[in-house]
Amino acid sequence: MTNQEQINRRRTFAIISHPDAGKTTLTEKFLLYGGAIQSAGSVKGKASDRHAVSDWMEIEKKRGISITSSVMQFEYDGYCINILDTPGHQDFSEDTYRTLMAADSAVMVIDAAKGIEPQTRKLFKVCAMRDIPIFTFINKMDREARDPFDLLDELETEFGIATYPITWPIGCGLRFKGVYHREHKKIISYADAHRGRERLSSIDCDITDTDTLDRLIGEEERAELVEQVELLDGAGVDFDLEAVRHGKLSPVFFGSALNNFGIETFLECFLRMTTAPLPRKTDGDTVYPSDDRFSAFVFKIQANMNKAHRDRIAFMRICSGRVERGETYYHVQGGRELKLSQPQQMMAQERSVIDEAYAGDIIGVFDPGIFSIGDTVCDRSMRVQFEGIPTFAPEIFVEVEQIDSMKRKQFAKGMNQIAQEGAIRIFCEPGSGLERVYVGVVGELQLDVLESRMKNEYNVEYRKYPQPYQYIKRVPNGVNPADLKLYEVKWVQDFRDGNYLLFPTPWHINYTLEHNEGLTLEEYGSVEE
Ligand code: G4P
Repeated sequence: MTNQEQINRRRTFAIISHPDAGKTTLTEKFLLYGGAIQSAGSVKGKASDRHAVSDWMEIEKKRGISITSSVMQFEYDGYCINILDTPGHQDFSEDTYRTLMAADSAVMVIDAAKGIEPQTRKLFKVCAMRDIPIFTFINKMDREARDPFDLLDELETEFGIATYPITWPIGCGLRFKGVYHREHKKIISYADAHRGRERLSSIDCDITDTDTLDRLIGEEERAELVEQVELLDGAGVDFDLEAVRHGKLSPVFFGSALNNFGIETFLECFLRMTTAPLPRKTDGDTVYPSDDRFSAFVFKIQANMNKAHRDRIAFMRICSGRVERGETYYHVQGGRELKLSQPQQMMAQERSVIDEAYAGDIIGVFDPGIFSIGDTVCDRSMRVQFEGIPTFAPEIFVEVEQIDSMKRKQFAKGMNQIAQEGAIRIFCEPGSGLERVYVGVVGELQLDVLESRMKNEYNVEYRKYPQPYQYIKRVPNGVNPADLKLYEVKWVQDFRDGNYLLFPTPWHINYTLEHNEGLTLEEYGSVEE
């Protein structure tokens, strides 16, 4: 197969959802259909002692959740699929957002009884910023569900995206009969899924074929289905593949991941409709995946993934060409050559050294501490820099004080390393040392992760004092915060001596601006909430 053929068959997507909507179950079913795992429950076990393939930290096992995003690759129907798992907990972090930067499309899982939930909203926003295709899987149709028109309406009004149901549900809960495939004019029966058949039969059946429909789903359901499908057809939304590929129209599917229902239909349409790896913008030209020269950017750094290895891995998304094991490339931000002697592919915890990978793939590279999030590694002749990965302003702050002064070095090392990974931000009061730092995070859970990692990996314990601040702004260069009139505001510095102010409420921000004439404050992150 040529490089181009390899790239064209790649599909790299992220699954986004609010916790409990069924993301893990759906991921697991994708892997099952792709033959990548042998039995359901391998991704996430029911019992507390079995944990997800995608979980790798102690704390995750304890909580039964997956914090760190991981990557899973499998083959299906000639396609090579990379699924990027995004953390499914309430206290998501910047890591989740960054993972979305590595995807070319997103699958949004929605609980049919609940509709859009807070985390779906946040994640959707990040996908929408990049105009990547978004596919909607409305899950748990085997339970009582909200009216499907209502659900679509909610998506359209809240997200401002048009929807096009490819399948349409026939009933729900105990009366769930299956779906009508609008494109193929077929009924796909739920009963088959219930009988445990992996490959479901579908019955060709036009919506006008009253006899067959009556026989398959009953008279009452048939009448309702016909009415609803006519309403949909009458709504006049045409299926427009270009709109799908630019994130303007979301194809919608109904199913039940737990009962293997709707997975195949979804995969078949999704793989056909979504895009192969997309071009990426750089500081100069756009880089196309078809460019033969290798280029990639770092979207995540993970230390100590495996205790036995005690190493740091930089996750890179390949944007063009092909990476070859043992080849020398160029690390743009580091300004030096870099031999990739052991590029790895991740299947959650499992990793294997690979000989080659292509645009669209995610590889892990051993990081001796040289990479930062957003760095570019590429062919020597390219020397481009991919556009920055968005940063988000921390919203939760705690003051952290080390307990054992004999462990000053470990404390500083741990804090710095974890901050370098991008999981936390650290600040200190002007003139103070590293014994006390202010830690800022996007999600509460990052604090638990920090505490557990400091203890397990650096053997350091600390006291923490929650702070009342929720907003951070940067003080422009040339302004000395000591000269400002501040009220209930904390002045801190990062380790490049940048000055920041922490505010408890928006009122305090306004107060500061009003009482310091001519002062402007800069946003911390590149994405505003
Ligand atoms: P998440 O990753 O989005 O957080 O969701 P996950 O797949 O873990 O699913 C959350 C719960 O919803 C699980 O139940 C799962 O079995 C259930 N679920 C997923 N898909 C469906 C579906 O199509 N129909 C129904 N009825 N349930 C579904 P749990 O009891 O919390 O966990 P478990 O003990 O079953 O693992």
